[in-house]
Amino acid sequence: MSNRVIMAAIVVLGALAATGGLLAGGARADAPQGPVPAADLVLPAGPPFASAAEAIEARRKAYKLSGKIFKELKAAIEAGAPVKPYAADVQFLVAWSRKIPVMFPPGSDSGHDTKALPEVWTDRTHFERDAADYTEAAETLARLAEADDQAGFARQFQATGKACAACHKAFRARLN
Ligand code: HEC
Repeated sequence: MSNRVIMAAIVVLGALAATGGLLAGGARADAPQGPVPAADLVLPAGPPFASAAEAIEARRKAYKLSGKIFKELKAAIEAGAPVKPYAADVQFLVAWSRKIPVMFPPGSDSGHDTKALPEVWTDRTHFERDAADYTEAAETLARLAEADDQAGFARQFQATGKACAACHKAFRARLN
């Protein structure tokens, strides 16, 4: 690559970064931050849990991290960025998805701001099927990230988002 091409690329990247900042209304905390550092990709401990509160807090924390990862993946797709750097983040989603059923032990259906609906416990088969659908979608997403297949990843991201939404519709109270 010639120096001129490199300079032009730097100028374009700079302009994109500036536009991103403006679009976010100057809220830099909302600006994309790229892949989540490996040290933060920690699965919750348990079971066993010392209390229902511990299970609720641990699952909410893991879901919040999933939400953050999802936001970063969306930003990477919209920026046309390589997706391979996000493979570990997606692997976290896969591992977390497999853990979902055990993170809803009996008795963790109320308190500590849980938004889990009673159906998690009364319609367990359906809940676990939704979790398994999510695992399958996330596994495919992880393979596409490994292959750095940007177009395939963008399509599968939509499919994975639908797996999140399907479960939320049936098993999570509407937020506020
Ligand atoms: C099998 C069901 C299921 C799937 C699949 C699922 N969720 Fe959830 N999610 C829930 C339930 C139930 C809650 C409420 C947990 C609670 O409050 O105890 C929740 C809560 C959340 C929260 C709120 C956490 C908080 O307390 O602030 C976020 C964010 C979230 N999920 C993101 C996602 C994303 C992103 C995906 C897909 C990549 C996903 N979820 C897939 C069931 C699911």
